[in-house]
Amino acid sequence: MGYTKAWLNYKRSDSIRFPFDALRVGAGGTIMERAAGELALAAGEIAGTALRRIADIAETEQDGSKGKGVISLEVPEDADAPDGAGAFRISLEEGVLRIQGGDESGVLYGVFELIRLMQTASPNLSRLLSGKLILEKKPSNPLRMLNHWDNLDGSIERGYAGNSFFFEKERLLLGERTRDYARLAASAGINAVVINNVNVRGAATWLITERYLPQLAALSQLFGEYGIALYLSLNFAAPMELAGLDTCDPLDERVQEFWKRKMLEVYAAVPDLGGFLVKADSEGRPGPFTYGRNHADGANMLAEAVSPYGGKIIWRCFVYNCSQDWRDRKTDRARAGYDNFMPLDGRFSDNVILQIKNGPMDFQVREPVSPLFSGLRATNQMLEVQAAQEYTGQQRHLCYLVPMWKEILDFKTYAGGEDGAAADTVADIVSGRLYEQTDCGMAAVANTGNDENWTGHDLAAANFYGFGRLAFDTGLSAEEIAREWIACTFGTNAEIMKVLLPMLMDSWSIYESYTSPLGIGWMVNPSHHYGPNVDGYEYDRWGTYHRSDCHGMGVDRTTEGTGYTAQYNEPNASMYEAMETCPEELLLFFHHVPYQYRLKSGKTLIQHIYDSHFEGAMRAQEMLEQFRRLDKFLEPEVYERIRARLKHQSDHSKEWRDRINTYYFRMSGIPDEKGRTIY
Ligand code: GCU
Repeated sequence: MGYTKAWLNYKRSDSIRFPFDALRVGAGGTIMERAAGELALAAGEIAGTALRRIADIAETEQDGSKGKGVISLEVPEDADAPDGAGAFRISLEEGVLRIQGGDESGVLYGVFELIRLMQTASPNLSRLLSGKLILEKKPSNPLRMLNHWDNLDGSIERGYAGNSFFFEKERLLLGERTRDYARLAASAGINAVVINNVNVRGAATWLITERYLPQLAALSQLFGEYGIALYLSLNFAAPMELAGLDTCDPLDERVQEFWKRKMLEVYAAVPDLGGFLVKADSEGRPGPFTYGRNHADGANMLAEAVSPYGGKIIWRCFVYNCSQDWRDRKTDRARAGYDNFMPLDGRFSDNVILQIKNGPMDFQVREPVSPLFSGLRATNQMLEVQAAQEYTGQQRHLCYLVPMWKEILDFKTYAGGEDGAAADTVADIVSGRLYEQTDCGMAAVANTGNDENWTGHDLAAANFYGFGRLAFDTGLSAEEIAREWIACTFGTNAEIMKVLLPMLMDSWSIYESYTSPLGIGWMVNPSHHYGPNVDGYEYDRWGTYHRSDCHGMGVDRTTEGTGYTAQYNEPNASMYEAMETCPEELLLFFHHVPYQYRLKSGKTLIQHIYDSHFEGAMRAQEMLEQFRRLDKFLEPEVYERIRARLKHQSDHSKEWRDRINTYYFRMSGIPDEKGRTIY
């Protein structure tokens, strides 16, 4: 099946100034070559220029050809070189445009930056070419990672864009699509990729055996050409499943020996492997708890086995009791991450990174930031977000998630003290700035598949692109990223920007308002998690309740309730504790609130629920109407694909509206002040 070029869509532009015809590539390896190739491709397709390769800058003067100008790719060795891995500088010096990297990846990112300036017809391009601007960038986060939840049979857990392009029928796929994926990922700034599902079962356990190692070596090499490190998800019970041991106790010598030998074998075959991602003691996956050990015991044992090879163990903090009794009002899933991992702070090896989901529950449309970021001070931390839209419309509804991720990164933890003087946002922590760490960063559950447009919904590719760009530069705004993505994908037509930009920017708030406003969450159909079902998870074992009754709704997580608010530093703890100071968008996450409670708008809670759902569904319909203005501007298939999804969203948002409003009308008995139809 064919597939689109997504944002690496190099459209011919006659207005672009590109006064170069020669390319010099400094010393380096394959990443330099890929950077050169990408630049040559883009120069040809965008500017119609065939860049000729020269060995030496002086050559242009010597050979008598009336050269226009030279672009030089280089990794300088002097003290003036760009600072660190992935950093780059683009500058014009005596007619030569130098793209310099702190390493080869830096050069590659610099090349993609230059291409982006061309694609977006950015004013910075002219400034650069007239010597008025020197562009310098350095990645905000050391690790910028995608986690694919791809299974070896080709299915994807929570995949909404077709099947895997990494696996099919228990075989590893390696082809043009793999390369184009690597180009897309690298162009956005991604430098690490886990290719298999965190739930490692069946054949996936065998990825670390000779059955797959040769192909993994080839994949790792291909990724390496784009500065991307390959990672795998690991089955903690591999010693039992692969070697027939009767235990996977991390303190058992036979188990330790198994892993050491295993890693020797794995790294001999795939020397550049970045390391492993581990989901242990979570949702039925094996882990150290079975043997009375803790997460540090488990993670450190693996860390020791990979440490001779520079490998990392990324250990997930998504650990909670998933066999809860809904009658039990004290156990609170939101508390679980902190309760499990806080006592272990400082006990993890240097090459272990704890990967923490953004919120304490599970990728809802809105959650408070996980209190673990506020607490852990002596442990490498990584933020995990979900680009795959499991709870945010499954890539059938539009939901541009970068604004959400920005809020998470900007959250002030007060880990640096209650006076607020320290730079201690989530971004400061996961970048390694606050605690001077180098093994940390951001990961996203990937939203790709083998659909023609990569992400099911064409507009969902903005989340793939946006995650990479944001992880590379957390200082970018959600709007800047959206603008870039639109121009790179669809070209610089003003009408397209005018329609798509507000659609993307408003989409999270629209989705939230007709599904689950005020932080209540869940209310989806069990297991597949699509579509409204208010009580879908209310009497279940997963710890996911809204506790609605005839008086009010929401979960009391104050010190009177589950005590969750106390996991935050002050002044956040007190802010969440009191209904009056709790940010209203999270009110029902933290409090059980009477329907007649007045919000800051003066509206009662119940009226807000009704209004929010009516308005949300109306705004979803307006998006469809706005989009129709683009029927002459987009390619017909692309237009039709997006239109069909927006139409479905508009219809489906009415289903959400009516189900939820009807439920709360019946529950509260309070009519809508505006007399609209509720069933
Ligand atoms: C969610 C999701 C699961 C996934 C899990 C995880 O619960 O529904 O499919 O396995 O998160 O992050 O491990």
